[in-house]
Amino acid sequence: MTYQRTIQDQLMERAKRVVPGGVYGHAAMAPAKSPRFFAEGRGCRVRDVDGNEYIDLMCSYGPNLLGMNEERVEQAAAAQRRLGSCFTGPTERWIELAEALTERIDHADWAMFQKNGTDATTLCMTLARAVTGRRKILVAEGAYHGAIPWCTPSSGGVLPEDRAHLLYFRYNDLDSVREAVRQAGSDLAGILVSPFRHDAFVDQELPTPEFAEGLRELCNEHGAPLMMDEVRTGLRLARGSSWAHFGVEPDLSAWGKSLANGYPISAVVGREPIREAAASIYSTGSFWYSAVPMAAALECLRVVDELDLPARLEKVGQQLRDGLAALASSYGFSLRQTGPPQMPLVLFEDDPGFRQGTFFAEDAVTRGVYFHPYHNMFLSAAHTPGIIEECLERLEASFVSLRREVGA
Ligand SMILES: Cc1ncc(COP(=O)(O)O)c(C=O)c1O
Repeated sequence: MTYQRTIQDQLMERAKRVVPGGVYGHAAMAPAKSPRFFAEGRGCRVRDVDGNEYIDLMCSYGPNLLGMNEERVEQAAAAQRRLGSCFTGPTERWIELAEALTERIDHADWAMFQKNGTDATTLCMTLARAVTGRRKILVAEGAYHGAIPWCTPSSGGVLPEDRAHLLYFRYNDLDSVREAVRQAGSDLAGILVSPFRHDAFVDQELPTPEFAEGLRELCNEHGAPLMMDEVRTGLRLARGSSWAHFGVEPDLSAWGKSLANGYPISAVVGREPIREAAASIYSTGSFWYSAVPMAAALECLRVVDELDLPARLEKVGQQLRDGLAALASSYGFSLRQTGPPQMPLVLFEDDPGFRQGTFFAEDAVTRGVYFHPYHNMFLSAAHTPGIIEECLERLEASFVSLRREVGA
């Protein structure tokens, strides 16, 4: 079937009349020729409104960890839905999920639940301030932690006051952290960091052990919580905390996206000394007790363990990485593939304005592979070695197109 986009364009026109910009946020970030409106999905195959099918390498920017409509998660969600979801208070799932998280994450002595990753990162900061009685929080320059005024990458409607008590350091640069700690002085409330540098537009960067250990030591020295933003990485890199392999555990961490395989839920977990502050603040939302996402999360965690998912994703990620490198070199291109293989970022060498990368991603869409040219991709349990092979076959044609585009 040839690639179609008639309905897509009609829906965009219709949306623009009633929704600012038609679509916004993540949905607006995709390259111009990528589809905006989807109709159906199973596993890692999705279909857009025109009937075009794609192997989806974005997984909804993370949530689809096991693949869309994964049977066991759907059954658990359906069983809970029959009992009810939105009660006037929590169900037993609330406790079961907190038990499951405290069992698997070493620094988790307790858990709290929200809806979005932004809720969770923001709650971490509030808790750090509540427990220390201080104001300054250190975050990495360019890191994404959500889309409200203290952290959104855009500037409209954001006041300097919204960020007045943030200080910035460079990822993997301990001297810049020390300098920010010095500036915070006796007002240091905590340091927020992601498990690796996964900012859009630039190469991903794994943390050095010195950086991870150095942050831990600085936080210990100053009695300020180390906070880890696991919203993007959670359950893809490790069974528990992503820095466990360094022997470094934070004091608080934020989880979301993949926790319930597409159902809306996020979580903050933390250590014992922060429990009292966590119980004392007023933190809530109308849908934060919903039981269906909690039932989905419980089943999702079981499947993750049964599949030993992080190791499995690493393997298929490496297959994709090796395949892309081989294809690129046989068509005369050089790629920069960075970060953990489970969350691939593929940039073209010498590619100002991401022109080659964008052409490649837009061409791939017409051949049934969906990804972003300068935001990391996400792999799921549904990306089997056979599907990665199929992706590579389709992408070979996109390398041929790109070769033609840039001149042989
Ligand atoms: C590292 C990180 N933190 C926080 C967030 C915010 O999560 P949400 O979009 O669910 O609010 C995101 C979302 O992309 C993220 O990648």
